[in-house]
Amino acid sequence: MAQAEFDQLRSRYASTLVDLGTGDGAWPRRFARDYGNVLAIGVDPDRSALQDAAKLAERKPARGGAPNALYVAASAESLPAELQGAADWITIYFPWAALLRMILAGEQQIADILNTLAAPRARLSIVLNAEAAPDGFKKPEPSAVRKSLHVPLESMGFRIAKSEWLDAAAAPPTTWGGRLVKGSGRAMVGLDASR
Ligand SMILES: C[S@@+](CC[C@H](N)C(=O)[O-])C[C@H]1O[C@@H](n2cnc3c(N)ncnc32)[C@H](O)[C@@H]1O
Repeated sequence: MAQAEFDQLRSRYASTLVDLGTGDGAWPRRFARDYGNVLAIGVDPDRSALQDAAKLAERKPARGGAPNALYVAASAESLPAELQGAADWITIYFPWAALLRMILAGEQQIADILNTLAAPRARLSIVLNAEAAPDGFKKPEPSAVRKSLHVPLESMGFRIAKSEWLDAAAAPPTTWGGRLVKGSGRAMVGLDASR
């Protein structure tokens, strides 16, 4: 999609959600169905999962489709220029691999990515699985996640509002959120920030 076409599409909606590491893309489609005035974009390098997601979104609304859901096959590290400054709300739910490592290490790269993607005023929601960690990292805890991301996010104008334990009842409505073990009081770490 060319920049002008994308800008025109975006101008038809009140705001834009970008879900980084969207996996099967169920969450942006669900959100798009609930909020017809939002353009909901799922981003993931797994092209085949997104092709299935796009087919579901293309269905008629009565059959679960959402004309305002869009999918972009890309990694967070190589986002298309069209998405620059587009996101009013960025969600990152249950990331793994490089996306998770950047967050846990508090790398400047994740703040640069978010800064490129975010509109001047934007909200950021990150939820991490607290029961697993990549090699070389400790399992996420709220204070450690806040500490890692505080400086890089602040350098891009984001202020962290909270970083806290979430229990299963507060899981975001994504496919991985639904898979988390019920009953654990320390299943997830949720971080909210805005600028
Ligand atoms: C556990 S799945 C979570 C999917 C979805 N957010 C959910 O909650 O159901 C983690 C996703 O992160 C994606 N991911 C990993 N590294 C990434 C990167 N560098 N950029 C974008 N997505 C990435 C993977 O492709 C995978 O789909």
